[in-house]
Amino acid sequence: MNTVDDVKQKLDIVDVVSQYVKLQKSGRNFKAACPFHSEKTASFFVFPEKQSWHCFGACGTGGDVFSFVMKKEGLDFSQALHLLAEKAGVTLTHQSQQNVKEEHEKHERLFKINEVAAEYFHYQLLHSDDGEAARQYATKRGLIPKTIDNFQLGYSLNQWDDLSGHLMKSGYTEGEILAAGLVVLRDKGGYYDRFRNRLMFPIRDIKSRVVGFGGRALDDSLPKYLNSPQTAIFDKSSIIYAIDRAQPAIRQKDAVVITEGYMDTITAHEFGFENTVASMGTALTEKQISTLSKLTKYIFFALDAVSSGREATRRSAQSIYEQIPYENWMPWTDRNLFSELVKNEIQVVMIRGEKDPDEIIRKSPEKWAKLLDTSQSIIDFTLKKEIDTINLDDARDKSEVVSKLIAILSRIDDPVRRAHYVRKISKLLNIDERSVQVALINSQTQEKKFKNARGTKVIKNYADQTASSRYIEDYCLALLINFPDLKNIGGDIDTNYFEHSENKDILLRWKLEPSTEAITQNLDPAIHEYLSHLLSFASRFPPSLGKEKKERERALNDCINRLQERYFKNLEVKKKLILAEEKSETQLDKLKECDINESQQLLDIFQKRGRLFSRTKGD
Ligand code: UTP
Ligand code: MN
Repeated sequence: MNTVDDVKQKLDIVDVVSQYVKLQKSGRNFKAACPFHSEKTASFFVFPEKQSWHCFGACGTGGDVFSFVMKKEGLDFSQALHLLAEKAGVTLTHQSQQNVKEEHEKHERLFKINEVAAEYFHYQLLHSDDGEAARQYATKRGLIPKTIDNFQLGYSLNQWDDLSGHLMKSGYTEGEILAAGLVVLRDKGGYYDRFRNRLMFPIRDIKSRVVGFGGRALDDSLPKYLNSPQTAIFDKSSIIYAIDRAQPAIRQKDAVVITEGYMDTITAHEFGFENTVASMGTALTEKQISTLSKLTKYIFFALDAVSSGREATRRSAQSIYEQIPYENWMPWTDRNLFSELVKNEIQVVMIRGEKDPDEIIRKSPEKWAKLLDTSQSIIDFTLKKEIDTINLDDARDKSEVVSKLIAILSRIDDPVRRAHYVRKISKLLNIDERSVQVALINSQTQEKKFKNARGTKVIKNYADQTASSRYIEDYCLALLINFPDLKNIGGDIDTNYFEHSENKDILLRWKLEPSTEAITQNLDPAIHEYLSHLLSFASRFPPSLGKEKKERERALNDCINRLQERYFKNLEVKKKLILAEEKSETQLDKLKECDINESQQLLDIFQKRGRLFSRTKGD
């Protein structure tokens, strides 16, 4: 999340606007006489669900909380950012070029320390006298030398300063060893080795750099596993164990199996299931899924039989659907990518009887292969799980479970698949198919999710929304700043199409002078990091964009087209919302008079897009 989003998330636009304007409730929204021009009937509206405002009167403009404050206080974006950040209690940090470089060097040192530590632990396991118990434990667990080697397993001696002593001798400072999370500070001063008398599992990132460790107790003592703490290079929410070792197999087999534990993954590799990784015991995060779905769209969850595993699966189901919002569709890829992603459902591997994959695989690799083959789609899994929990004779139970399941179904775009599950639910619950259908339609049209007009819930929804709604905007901007030669087309973009004030600010600067240096000049330092994030999009562009101007122009035109569509759709939706609430004649007339006719505009856009794509096909 960038700083600006952080500020927006902590503020409610209704609260901020209320400090300037007396708002009156109008259905789910709020209205007032417009503070920017004089009028008798209220045509200024605030939409809590979208965290935006719009004046349907003489101004005909709108935007987010930033643009409101900018307009009201006569501030530029940077000033508004500072004002609102303070209100929100967000500290604005900024990275200078120098800082970026220093940080990079610091991280490199941390990777090195961890690498040295991994080698040291590995050596101790293989050769030290003290390592005998650990060697025996490894053998007892069935770990063969090849596996120990492949995963560079190690042993931390049962001493307070063994590793730290070794690292100091190797030229690392106390500060660095602490920053790597390898020692723990004592209350009374000094420090001691974090990992003692444990079987050590180095944890590597996708580039095979050691970022942290897991250490297993050799007996039943607790905690069973001790892991590195969060450090500058170890982010628990994004790390996936064995991703570096598994990557080639994931690509080759075009599938990935996610297990919960280190041991599950290591055993899977040992028995040839090399496309296996571990989530390290916690519920999967969106970041992890995003990393994996870049490698393959066939994702299998194999979680332990215990109930916490089930819970993790359910939660992961949520994040995977959040993961593929409509706008993640990328302008240059196949039009069908989105439906493809959804079509290939995540599969759940059911584990019954045995404790975990490690146990099954060691007993019978054939059985494991079969379990993978007979996995269940996550939707089937969830249907069954939810339905199992209720009393089928209780009408209220049924109705409750239907609305839960429908929330999942409404995320499926493919009508055939949706229909398939509607039929399934009605069968399982023994109710009329039509009533499930109706419930589905209702939930889609009424946007039940956003029922609460304000409050924390809404703000949270806003965060979900922005994640997807800003993608096209960010992408468009990334094209512009990476390719200043798009000036001809980009110069004409209507800044109103950009909902996010920080993007609008950058777009305005780009229009003046499209070089990165010019944009950076006078840009608020708090936005620098965000700008480099946009610049780094270039690594995700298809190579053809860099080579051919025609290609990038096409990508940009497509983006603009989508932004335009979103803009008018939003306006239309807002207008309809208000019309539904405002019964007064004058209000109606006024809204009808609005100088733009969104429906006509939308038609034009679709026509234009038709031309755009027929041209694409033609050449
Ligand atoms: P498990 O308890 O299933 O561990 O926890 P495991 O990998 O199967 O290990 P064995 O077979 O009992 O030796 C799953 C994962 O949860 C994390 C670890 O990443 C572990 O691999 N975990 C578990 C911890 O981080 N700390 C703990 O105390 C326990
Ligand atoms: Mn296990």
